[in-house]
Amino acid sequence: MAISPSTDGIDLLVAQHRALEDLLDRTLEATDPAQRRGLFRRVGDELSVHLGAEEQVFYPAVRARRTEDILLESLEEHLSLKRLLADLLEIDPQERTFEPKFKVLREQTAHHHEEEEEHLFPKVRQLLSSEEIARIGAEMAALQTARRRDEDAPRESVVGETGQAAELPPEVRSPALSPITSDDPCRPLPD
Ligand SMILES: [Fe+2]
Ligand SMILES: [Fe+2]
Repeated sequence: MAISPSTDGIDLLVAQHRALEDLLDRTLEATDPAQRRGLFRRVGDELSVHLGAEEQVFYPAVRARRTEDILLESLEEHLSLKRLLADLLEIDPQERTFEPKFKVLREQTAHHHEEEEEHLFPKVRQLLSSEEIARIGAEMAALQTARRRDEDAPRESVVGETGQAAELPPEVRSPALSPITSDDPCRPLPD
């Protein structure tokens, strides 16, 4: 993917949601064992790259009093996805237990995407300027490109991340955002 300074961070994440859902469907539909195995590896890598960019760049950048609850819930959902993925990596896709577990991964992934798109992203659009969301997008795209080029497959990293949910790191305050102490939920949202 080309890295453009005008990459909109939310558009990037939403496009990745659709691509991941498509990949999950294609994996389930694949009847050829080698094809299914290859598609599953791609699911594992793309899901890991996506979750990593959200946890390391997007969530810290959009943290504010108004988003904190949903970010904490999202991190718990990420943990659940990582645990399912780690379990699936231990199972041969031809085994009987693979498909039911994979269906749960597909359902939980779709649910998580819906939560982000319906509850988190609209709030972020209200809180941050389009320039700021573009800067976050460029930063995520750069990180994702680097991770895809890593010698270790991205999916391997989730195995070490199943103990507890990732912490919500200290917020990276943008000059575009007002200080967190004034982010009063009772105040009218900025235009
Ligand atoms: Fe997420
Ligand atoms: Fe996401």
